[in-house]
Amino acid sequence: MARKVLLATEKAFAKTARDEVIAILKGAGYEVPVLENYKNKSDLIAAVADVDAMIIRSDVVDAEVLAAAKNLKLVVRAGAGYDNIDCKGAREKGVDAMNTPGQNSNAVAELAIGMMIYMARGKFGGKSGTELKGKRLGIHAIGAVGRGVAAIAKGGFGMTVKAFDVIPPDQIRAAGAEPVETLEDLYSGSDYISLHIPANAQTKKSIGFRLLNMMPKGACLINTARKEVIDDAGLLEALEKRPDLKYATDIEPEAATLAVIKEKFADRVFCTPKKLGAQTEEANVNAGLAAARQIVAYFEQGVKKFIVNP
Ligand code: 3PG
Repeated sequence: MARKVLLATEKAFAKTARDEVIAILKGAGYEVPVLENYKNKSDLIAAVADVDAMIIRSDVVDAEVLAAAKNLKLVVRAGAGYDNIDCKGAREKGVDAMNTPGQNSNAVAELAIGMMIYMARGKFGGKSGTELKGKRLGIHAIGAVGRGVAAIAKGGFGMTVKAFDVIPPDQIRAAGAEPVETLEDLYSGSDYISLHIPANAQTKKSIGFRLLNMMPKGACLINTARKEVIDDAGLLEALEKRPDLKYATDIEPEAATLAVIKEKFADRVFCTPKKLGAQTEEANVNAGLAAARQIVAYFEQGVKKFIVNP
């Protein structure tokens, strides 16, 4: 019986990407059910019932989905962050989880830069704004996206670029930024902070009032990472006490936070309508095709590269 590989994307890929993903998987002899733009978790639960593998984006694969996926052997997150997968639960069920690191990073880096320009120019409202040239950019975690942001900011805009990360200083320099020793140094010395940390037990709610209040006058936080890393109460407090601070995010905060933002801080906060950092045709093709190829290599040759829940 042919293997079944489900393409489950609550936020659909561009058509070219979707079609090529399906072609690769069908070319390997697999059946490829597609569940796109679904609204209810029950649809996903029904769709996973008999699949051997699945490709997802930010789609949530939790204990309930894993329990329903009786034949599942592999779930591939077409993208970088895999906080949407219950990795431990998957391991307990013998299900491998993979990501496709770096494949969509340029799209996210370009969006982060776009958001900086948008905020520097007062959200294109017509008032006199500022330029990025000569400003200080702090990159909080310099992985694939952070490196991309650093390269564009330095090479394209003449910003000075520093970064904080847990990797050794020479690796930060090799990634294109001057290392700083502490997070406090980064936040207190940056006109813009671009966040690129993953959401995990250590980072959740780690960006709050204390760090934001250290930022220089008129500074702006750019979040294309995850909403979970923000301490919403601390963010609102910082916006309240510091009328000069700005915040741009690609991930809509919780409804209660968003309501306060809309009511009080709409002039200096920007939020994309839907997480769209990786929503380009190129990123969809890169990440989608990588995911499809990883699945074929896994089943046909036993290739286990990119497993994130060993
Ligand atoms: C990622 O982790 O790869 C990005 O956040 C993109 O997520 P998306 O595929 O849901 O757009």
